[in-house]
Amino acid sequence: MGKQYLSATQKNEKMKHILTAIVCITLLVSCGKSKEEKVIKKTKTTTVKKSKVVAKKEMVVVDADGIVNVTMITSDRMKFNLKKITVKAGQKIKLTLTHTGKLDKRVMGHNVVFLKQGVKTSAFGSKAAAAKENDYIPEGTTAVIAYTKMLGGGETTTIEFIAPAAGTYDYICSFPGHYGMMKGKLIVE
Ligand code: CU
Repeated sequence: MGKQYLSATQKNEKMKHILTAIVCITLLVSCGKSKEEKVIKKTKTTTVKKSKVVAKKEMVVVDADGIVNVTMITSDRMKFNLKKITVKAGQKIKLTLTHTGKLDKRVMGHNVVFLKQGVKTSAFGSKAAAAKENDYIPEGTTAVIAYTKMLGGGETTTIEFIAPAAGTYDYICSFPGHYGMMKGKLIVE
């Protein structure tokens, strides 16, 4: 009887050890998991914050259809908001030009003209200045990839064109005297 009692106690002791071990393992595993979860949550939060900041500043956005939406803004000052537009060869570009100023297009007209490679902005600019009848685009020119119409204050226009082969292209406003200030680079990768 004594032996049986002892062995029963031993069994209980063993069970206690096993239970303690299980509890310990469970605690360790759950601790590890919750730490991992915390790390993942932290990473997710950081990513969301960063993309929000980018979205506010971004004026060149590729939409779900793969079209590059470019927001070009001008005012009564001779200035483009964008000095550089980076796209990929063959991408469809949808550019919206807005003139937020008040001045008439005869006084402070703005457009965007994308020039082919090898065309000097100064040479094109002076030819364009003589083409008043055609919105300051030389009639029958072969120097241009795409251009918007000339806008006055409060107006907006949108054009679509396909990004040319990889390379760097100049864009200007062809209103007389503007190309020196109103210029930028279309970078096609
Ligand atoms: Cu202009």
